[in-house]
Amino acid sequence: MKTVTIDHQVLPAIGIGTWHMGDDSTVESQEIKAIRTGLNAGAKVIDTAEMYGSGAAETLVGKAIQGYNRDHLYLISKVLPNNIAKTIEAHLDASLQRLGADYVDLYLYHWRGGAPLIDTITELERMRIKGKTKAWGVSNFDIDDMSELWNLPIGSKVAANEDLYNLGSRGIEYSLLGWQNRHGVPMIAYSPVGNADSLGANMTRNANVLKVAARHEATPYQIILAWAIHQPQVLAIPKTAQPDHMTDNVAAMNIDLNKEDLALLNAAFPAPTQKQPLDIL
Ligand SMILES: NC(=O)c1ccc[n+]([C@@H]2O[C@H](COP(=O)([O-])OP(=O)(O)OC[C@H]3O[C@@H](n4cnc5c(N)ncnc54)[C@H](OP(=O)(O)O)[C@@H]3O)[C@@H](O)[C@H]2O)c1
Repeated sequence: MKTVTIDHQVLPAIGIGTWHMGDDSTVESQEIKAIRTGLNAGAKVIDTAEMYGSGAAETLVGKAIQGYNRDHLYLISKVLPNNIAKTIEAHLDASLQRLGADYVDLYLYHWRGGAPLIDTITELERMRIKGKTKAWGVSNFDIDDMSELWNLPIGSKVAANEDLYNLGSRGIEYSLLGWQNRHGVPMIAYSPVGNADSLGANMTRNANVLKVAARHEATPYQIILAWAIHQPQVLAIPKTAQPDHMTDNVAAMNIDLNKEDLALLNAAFPAPTQKQPLDIL
């Protein structure tokens, strides 16, 4: 099983995304079942945000984790950019209330907004010291943002960066992923299956992906996920509201892609040869 270490916690390398979950009450029980299927299969990380359904996803997660040992969960939530960093605590308190939790494990700055970065991270660090989050990090940061962050006082306390990353969207490999590895900052890969392959790469129908899938008696989605986490310190957070998809997704962390598999996948979806703008969803 692949693992990733964030803030000294060793975590299974596939977690659970929750964007668009909690939006429709008629499928709530199925969504809760999907999340629990993931946790029961060995996932630990749940990624959510105050933005998702304006709190509805956090509320759903709060329901899904009832009865689970908090120590066995790793909850990530995110604060929307705000021009006034001082409001972060009120936003975090509201997230905690929806989650029914005393703390989150990782609190991310969802994307860079107008507030001076130093003010934002000072407030995030204050939340860490208060115990409302165990660690803080960022999301949708490219290499320039990470370098700027790193050079700020306490900037190197950043526990992770969460960016769009999948086989069909490899731009971060040009420089950012290496930078993060050298600086010990894990990457959380969002949209790891390309948002159900809706982003245009056609990964799930690609002949080489299908060939590798056949070799491993796996689905194309599983191969795409196994690829997303094959490099060290990359955690993937696929979203699914389908319990059977969840079972497949979590099982993908046990698929070891060999050199031949990787060569086939590389041939179909080559690594970037120049800097590309950061993909954002
Ligand atoms: N930090 C950020 O700015 C940011 C931005 C976007 C996303 N995120 C996080 O990353 C998570 C994942 O990204 P995402 O939701 O954009 O896209 P994703 O996980 O790449 O794709 C989700 C889609 O793939 C389908 N799917 C998942 N597993 C499948 C499987 N095994 N077989 C068939 N279909 C499958 C899901 O449909 P079904 O539900 O029908 O299975 C859903 O439509 C989000 O939920 C969110 O937590 C963060």
